Amino acid sequence: MIKPIKIGSVEIKNNVFLAPMAGVTDMPFRKLCREFGAGLVYTEMASSKAVEYKSEKTENIYRVFEEEHPIAIQIFGSEPEIMANTAEKLSNFADLIDINMGCPANKIVKNGEGSALMKNLDLAARIIEATVKASKVPVSVKMRKGWDEKHINAPELAKVAENCGAVMVTIHGRTREQMYSGEADLEIIRKVKETVKIPVIGNGDIRDFASAERMFKETRCDGIMVARGAQGNPWIFREILTGKSDKPTVQEKIALIIRHLELEVAHKGEYTGIREMRKHIANYLKGVPNSSQIKEEINHLESAEEVKAVLNNIRKMGEKIC
Ligand SMILES: Cc1cc2nc3c(=O)[nH]c(=O)nc-3n(C[C@H](O)[C@H](O)[C@H](O)COP(=O)(O)O)c2cc1C
Repeated sequence: MIKPIKIGSVEIKNNVFLAPMAGVTDMPFRKLCREFGAGLVYTEMASSKAVEYKSEKTENIYRVFEEEHPIAIQIFGSEPEIMANTAEKLSNFADLIDINMGCPANKIVKNGEGSALMKNLDLAARIIEATVKASKVPVSVKMRKGWDEKHINAPELAKVAENCGAVMVTIHGRTREQMYSGEADLEIIRKVKETVKIPVIGNGDIRDFASAERMFKETRCDGIMVARGAQGNPWIFREILTGKSDKPTVQEKIALIIRHLELEVAHKGEYTGIREMRKHIANYLKGVPNSSQIKEEINHLESAEEVKAVLNNIRKMGEKIC
């Protein structure tokens, strides 16, 4: 169950990780999840081609801060040489380089990147080998169960990863075809665990302590990774680590949303920060009475002070939002 974990040479205080999520796991969000106990956090995925061609937007993705360690920078791509160059460069900033072999998005797989690599184990092997060779820090691989129900090969790819020098694999128990629907298959994660000696991280549908416990028990995985369960809910790490379902009070929730807003504005400026916060606020307010009205109001506001005023108003009204 929950314990410290060593990934290659990297010591991590606990084995409950925050997943990489494009558009979500920027520095402010990672900071909050870490404060609630996440042992390891990941950046959003960074395109190796964009790193190679020095895209400014991508620089913001892999920029990490002193207090963020240990942190994994996730990269994706289909060209071993470019992946190697990227790993060499970004491993100066990270404790771990993670290779994305699970992204199901059309715009990624049509280039043979992300989960498309599960259909091409030879290329996957060359990418992992080149990345491991070039990186100054340990390299891990995140993958899915397989491409579709007819092509379930996470155990094979995990073995390839291990043989090519990866120090950890993360398995999301869905196929590419499933995207994010249906239930994650824990059986495949158990099979990967039986196949390789390196640590295996279980991912998929962890939403609370009970589902975290189930992932550990049914798969015997070495650690777990939380994605959507953390959106609008960084408290999930506290819940999993303590085993207590201590949901935030209204005061705590609003105070955290305001702090999140302040971090986004400080990090990205007011214009972008407010826009970034709209989706986070929608997540924080999921299931809250009148939330669509509140979201609609917030989506039209242009200053952080105005957004804070709306949030403080909810706090004053003592709206039961949790
Ligand atoms: C909004 C969003 C963005 C994601 N971005 C990434 C990404 O950049 N890299 C990656 O490996 N997985 C990404 N994922 C997949 C998650 O890391 C995770 O594998 C998946 O959501 C299953 O876990 P869950 O059931 O806990 O959500 C993303 C998922 C979501 C919902």
